[in-house]
Amino acid sequence: MKNVAVVYWSGTGNTEAMANAVAEGVRANGAEAALLTAAEFTADMVNDYDAIGFGCPAMGDEVLEEDEFEPMFSGCQSALKGKKIALFGSYGWGDGDWMRTWEETCRECGAELVCDSVICQEAPDEDGEKSCRELGAALAE
Ligand SMILES: Cc1cc2nc3c(=O)[nH]c(=O)nc-3n(C[C@H](O)[C@H](O)[C@H](O)COP(=O)(O)O)c2cc1C
Repeated sequence: MKNVAVVYWSGTGNTEAMANAVAEGVRANGAEAALLTAAEFTADMVNDYDAIGFGCPAMGDEVLEEDEFEPMFSGCQSALKGKKIALFGSYGWGDGDWMRTWEETCRECGAELVCDSVICQEAPDEDGEKSCRELGAALAE
């Protein structure tokens, strides 16, 4: 059985709701899902998983959350070469700039983005949750 990590940071619960839906999609597609916060994940855990979903909202000025998520993700980058990953996160007033920058970073470090990233404005609606479940299913492939 494939083993998928869903690693997220969430200040007010919106990205957490997305992470829950991603994990649901992973399990619905027959894989094991470990739901972990950024604080619970480290670079040496990358190789414990077949695929990883990373979730982080737009923070600062269109950047990843800087205290926990960004340092954790930066630490993982060299281990992500060739790794199957997918990105998701919530935003407020922007147009998704943080996600485009993040995707570029992932391409530069050689990670394999298995599907389009999912972004939701504030809390995910029904369509957003469906997209998150589909992202989870893609990670479980
Ligand atoms: C300190 C701070 C900075 C933020 N910066 C941005 C931003 O640059 N662009 C944007 O679209 N939303 C921004 N937001 C809005 C959050 O991305 C949005 O509220 C999101 O739903 C939070 O997700 P969470 O509930 O998972 O923490 C910011 C929110 C906070 C609190």
